[in-house]
Amino acid sequence: MVEIPEDVKKVALEAVKKKTLVIGTTNNKCIPNTVPLSAIGYPKIIDGDKFVIVDNYLYKTRKNLEENPFASLTFWDSETLEGYQVKGPVEIKSSGDLYEQIRSEIKSKRPKLPAKAIVILKVEEVYSVKPGSEAGKKIA
Ligand SMILES: Cc1cc2nc3c(=O)[nH]c(=O)nc-3n(C[C@H](O)[C@H](O)[C@H](O)COP(=O)(O)O)c2cc1C
Repeated sequence: MVEIPEDVKKVALEAVKKKTLVIGTTNNKCIPNTVPLSAIGYPKIIDGDKFVIVDNYLYKTRKNLEENPFASLTFWDSETLEGYQVKGPVEIKSSGDLYEQIRSEIKSKRPKLPAKAIVILKVEEVYSVKPGSEAGKKIA
């Protein structure tokens, strides 16, 4: 298990606010797909080692995750250039307590958002993307 380091959590939280977070997936032909992702406080870190993503308008991403349940999230602070890439397997949930809880939170804030599902990414690897000597290095 990889515990997400505190510095990484801090940058992720700010990146969600500033909308500097991207999810990468691949389909079963290994064609990559990346899209921006950050809405009303999500992705959010839970249990110290997972990101919860809300699927409102994901299309290719959702299809890719169904075909190939692994994803990468990259997020950064545009001012400090501190940034990280996390990778791991995902689970898609459109029922159950956690889904219902997040869906009602989203609906209470933005009733028009569909909150079709949640995607739980279990972090297995963390890399730095900060330019410089640490670039690309695995940090957890
Ligand atoms: C800044 C920004 C944040 C976004 N956040 C989310 C999000 O949290 N959940 C979501 O489902 N879509 C979100 N979207 C919309 C998706 O990125 C968009 O629907 C995209 O076309 C999906 O592409 P795909 O077909 O490759 O999955 C966001 C878009 C932008 C520009």
